[in-house]
Order: sequence, then structure tokens, then C-alpha cells
Amino acid sequence: MFVSRILVILLGLCCQSTESSQPFLDFPLLSGPSQALLKKPVDFNCSAPRHPENIVIQLQLFKVGDRSKLLGEQTSLPGEVRVIPMVVTKNNEGYLECEASPQNKSRYNIASVVSSPHYLKVIEPVKDAEIIHSGSLEIFEGQTLKLDCKISAGNHVTYLWMHNGRPISQSPFSYVRDEHFWIFRTTSEHSGRYMCVATNAFNNKQVFTSNSSEVVITVKDLISDLEISFDVLKEDSQNYSALVTCHITRGSPPITFSLHNTKELVANVTTGNRSALFRVPVVLGQHTDWFQCQANNGDQTTYSEWMPIKVVPVAGPVMMHFDYDIGENYAIIGLRFYCKAAVGSHLQYRWFLNKTLLHQRGSFYYVEDQAPEQSILLLSVGVSSTGTYHCQVSDSFDNTTTIRSASRYLDKEVLNSLPVLVVAVVFGCFTTLISLVSICCCIGVVYSEFESCFFNLVMLLLPFFHKQCITFLGKRVYGERSPLGLKMERGKTAYEDDLDISDYGEDYLVLQAAKEVEFDQPSQASLDE
Ligand SMILES: *[C@@H]1O[C@H](CO)[C@@H](O)[C@H](O)[C@H]1NC(C)=O
Ligand SMILES: *[C@@H]1O[C@H](CO)[C@@H](O)[C@H](O)[C@H]1NC(C)=O
Ligand SMILES: *[C@@H]1O[C@H](CO)[C@@H](O)[C@H](O)[C@H]1NC(C)=O
Ligand SMILES: *[C@@H]1O[C@H](CO)[C@@H](O)[C@H](O)[C@H]1NC(C)=O
Ligand SMILES: *[C@@H]1O[C@H](CO)[C@@H](O)[C@H](O)[C@H]1NC(C)=O
Ligand SMILES: *[C@@H]1O[C@H](CO)[C@@H](O)[C@H](O)[C@H]1NC(C)=O
Repeated sequence: MFVSRILVILLGLCCQSTESSQPFLDFPLLSGPSQALLKKPVDFNCSAPRHPENIVIQLQLFKVGDRSKLLGEQTSLPGEVRVIPMVVTKNNEGYLECEASPQNKSRYNIASVVSSPHYLKVIEPVKDAEIIHSGSLEIFEGQTLKLDCKISAGNHVTYLWMHNGRPISQSPFSYVRDEHFWIFRTTSEHSGRYMCVATNAFNNKQVFTSNSSEVVITVKDLISDLEISFDVLKEDSQNYSALVTCHITRGSPPITFSLHNTKELVANVTTGNRSALFRVPVVLGQHTDWFQCQANNGDQTTYSEWMPIKVVPVAGPVMMHFDYDIGENYAIIGLRFYCKAAVGSHLQYRWFLNKTLLHQRGSFYYVEDQAPEQSILLLSVGVSSTGTYHCQVSDSFDNTTTIRSASRYLDKEVLNSLPVLVVAVVFGCFTTLISLVSICCCIGVVYSEFESCFFNLVMLLLPFFHKQCITFLGKRVYGERSPLGLKMERGKTAYEDDLDISDYGEDYLVLQAAKEVEFDQPSQASLDE
């Protein structure tokens, strides 16, 4: 192999030396445009700068590496620059070269030579851009949107994607590259008009643009948080209905709501709203059935929880009790009345002072409705809150049955006597202590064991001391500001103006202890009846 190669080289050298007397050609020079429009004629110049006299040279234009297809040719006499015209096709793009050789190859044994390559870019103007979407124009949030821009003709194209007339840029959830545009996790914000603009340019001067027609994409919100609730409606004197509301917080309309019971579909409706109302007949006091709402806007069905429908009418007795907050100096600063009916699923509470209806909020009170369980009347204590209180309960859907509580009278004196109980406890603590010391003194006199006796007794009674005395003494030192006291700051000011408890010494409070007990007697409470 090696030997044969050497032979070939030697032969070549030998031949060259034999033809060294023969004329030779210089490398031709190729020049021309670097860009050309498709199907338009262009001219390339090729010249053979120097070649032997009288030899006609053939200049041929080829694509580098492809001699099968002649792009153009000319013959030239020495020194001539020849123009080679050419009509550009798509395949012409790439490196071109010019080959020079003697026209009569059989006469002149001269090796052909080629120019250095010249790059030609072929521009085909863009035409007919069009958006191709795989899948539906209506999708649900979270799904992937895939759009492609298709052109019928054109190369070296840049693509611009527009959303509602504005250019789209790359984002973490989207992919914009060339003719592709993808959004991986769509939201309803991605709804709107999409257009692609395909552009290419010839020599940076002539710009070709093709706009696709707009495609309207709708990204629908999924339904979330379907809730079910019901109100009761009195149809006539005997018939009652449950008005069942199915409600969603999110979801694109139209939505088909349906109401199901444990056996079947009760009703369905398709609406543009976020809620639907269904009417179900009920019998008071009877458990009707369990109900569930379902909602669907095309993709998947969302279910509410199961809800029992049972309407229990109000029944007595209606109880009213109270508790209070003590401020500094053991004065009552606020009082809470609680009203509660024995049974009833849909209740309406009303409060009265001196038989006058109290509204939601007044200068010295505030009603906290926790229907159907209870209603709380918060009072700040003062002259304006003096009077007789009671509450009334009725069904929210029917006010023919009204049950009232017993009444309670409140005034300045009654209110001020309330903390006496607390004082009595302290007094009791003190008395107990004295008694203990006395007992142990006596034992000490008899058995001379005062110290251990007192210690044992104190240990025995420590829980009592702790609960009753220590906590109270703590209150006395730090004062007490209850949530009610804070809520009703305005009322408290009124109280401070009205009642100056610094006038009342401990003796006074102790003397009032009996009255306190009297106040809490239900029989004594209904003073206005
Ligand atoms: C080429 O050269 C040969 C002899 O050298 C001659 O016979 C022939 O006619 C020539 N052909 C042309 C086209 O000139
Ligand atoms: C193509 O879209 C571009 C960008 O929105 C706009 O400037 C241009 O006028 C449009 N051309 C046509 C023919 O609609
Ligand atoms: C109650 O409704 C039923 C039908 O739902 C009706 O037949 C009946 O007459 C109604 N009762 C009254 C008192 O209207
Ligand atoms: C609504 O109910 C009717 C029958 O009452 C049924 O034919 C229809 O398919 C239902 N529509 C939907 C969306 O469930
Ligand atoms: C309620 O009646 C009492 C007397 O019974 C009266 O002192 C008080 O001022 C009255 N309260 C209101 C707010 O009318
Ligand atoms: C019951 O309510 C109706 C309308 O809401 C009202 O006209 C009527 O006076 C009320 N009856 C009673 C006893 O409160």
C-alpha cells in the first residue's frame, strides 16, 4: 500500500516535470452578492487574472462539493472579467466557487483551478402565517396551551408572538422559541387573542412580514369550594320549603349546578352565576334527607359536602342568665346576658329593655348573635342601662311563635351589690385564718405543739386558700380588664361618670351581701310581670 502510494507520487512528480513546460492557470476570483432573493436573477463576476495567451478559458460556477449541477458558465479570453448570470433557487444557498479550465481540454493539458468560496444566502419572502393549535380553543386552567406558527413560504424567519396586541416574552411557565409557543400551566389570564408575526428581510432593507389571523383562546377557571347551605321559607300556613343554596367561590360560567339526595338527582340548572337556588319541601321537625350540590363547567364535577335538612321549630323554655366583669375597686364595668332556647334549628333572638326592642348596637350595649345556639347582650354598666331586660326567640322563617324569657331588673344599686360576694369570700378567708390560729392556740396551750398543728392545718386547707383567697388578692393588686371592658370603652366612661364607687367602703359592701342573693333568685327576677 505504502509502496504503491510512493509510486503514485513519484509518477506525479515525473509527469509534472514532463509538463512543466506546459502553461498553467492562475486561481480565478469570484465576487457577487452575499444575499439574493429567490427566483430573482443575480450576476456573479469571475475572472481568470492571468493565463497563457490564446487559450480560451471556461469559467464555471458550482456549489462547493457538488459538481453535478452547473450553476452558470462563461468563456473568457485572457484578462477578461466575465459576468455569470444566474436565477436563484433555494438550493443555491451555501458556498459557491468558480472553476477555470481550458475550453479545449484535449488540446491543452492544463489542470483546472477553483476560486475561494463565496457564501450566498437565499431569501424567500414569508407568506401566509397561520396559527396551528392542537386541541381545543377552550381549555381549563392548569392545562398546557400549545400554539405553532405555520408559514406557507419563507426562510430565515423570525417569529413574534402577540397576546391581545402585545408581544409575549419568555417566562418561567412559557416556552417561546421560533415558531413554537407553549404555556405549561395556564391560568385565566392567558385567555385572549393570539397572533404570530413572521418576518424576514432582504439585505436588512426589504422586510417581509406576514401576520396570522387572531386565534381566541379561553382558559376557564376550575370550580373550587362548592358550598351548600339552606334557609327555610314558609310557603303558606302549613307548607314549608328549604331553600338550598349551592355556591362556589371560583369557576368560569356557565355552570351546571345540580342537587342530589341520597337516592337521585333532585334538580339541575345551568347558570351564568356563581350560585344556584333549589327549593325542597320540608316537614317541620322531620329529618328530610341528606343533600349534596354538584357543579360542573365542562371539565370535571365538583361535589359539596352532604348536608342533612332538618327544620326544628322553636320550643321553650327560653333561659336568660348573665355574668359580669369586675374592674378596679371591685366595681362591675360590664355585664353579659345570655339568651338560649331549649330547641330550634333556625332561631331569631330579640332583646328588650323596658319592653323596647334593642337593635344590634346602641350607646351602652351590643348584641352578639350566635344564632341558633344563643344570643349575647353585652352591656356597659351605667344610668342609661338601668331597666328591665328580657329576650324573645322565634323561628327565623316564621314569627308567629314567640317565646320570651323571664325578666331581670338591673339598676345602680343591684349592680354595685354584686361584687359583695367576692368581698365576702375574702372576709371568709380572713375569718378562717383567725379560727385556725385560735384552734391551734388552744391545742398549743394543752399540748405545747402550736407550730406543727398550725402547719398541718394550713397544708390541709391550702387548696381552698389558693383558689378563693390568692386569686382574689391577685385581682385586687393588678385590677382586671375584661374583653368586654375593652370592647365597650365608651360605655365604661359613662359608668365612671355615673357611679363613683370610692364612696362605698368595704363595710357598705359587706352589708349589701344579702341583696346580692336576692338578685339572683328567678322568682324575684320578673319584676315587670
Ligand atoms: C481541440 O484541439 C484539437 C487538437 O489539438 C483539435 O483537433 C480540435 O478541433 C479542437 N477543438 C476545438 C473545439 O477547437
Ligand atoms: C402585523 O402586525 C404588526 C404587529 O402587530 C402590525 O404592526 C402590522 O400593522 C400588522 N400588519 C398587518 C398587515 O396587519
Ligand atoms: C301544601 O302543598 C301541597 C302541594 O305541595 C298542596 O297540595 C297543599 O294544598 C298545600 N297546603 C296548603 C294549606 O296550601
Ligand atoms: C338535568 O336534568 C335533566 C332531567 O331532569 C336531564 O335530562 C339533564 O341531562 C340534566 N342536565 C345535566 C347537565 O345534568
Ligand atoms: C326603664 O324603666 C326604669 C323604671 O322601671 C327607668 O328607671 C329606666 O330609666 C328605664 N330605662 C329606659 C332606658 O327607658
Ligand atoms: C312577622 O313578620 C311580618 C313580616 O316580616 C310582620 O309584618 C309581622 O308584624 C311580624 N309579626 C310579629 C308578631 O312580629
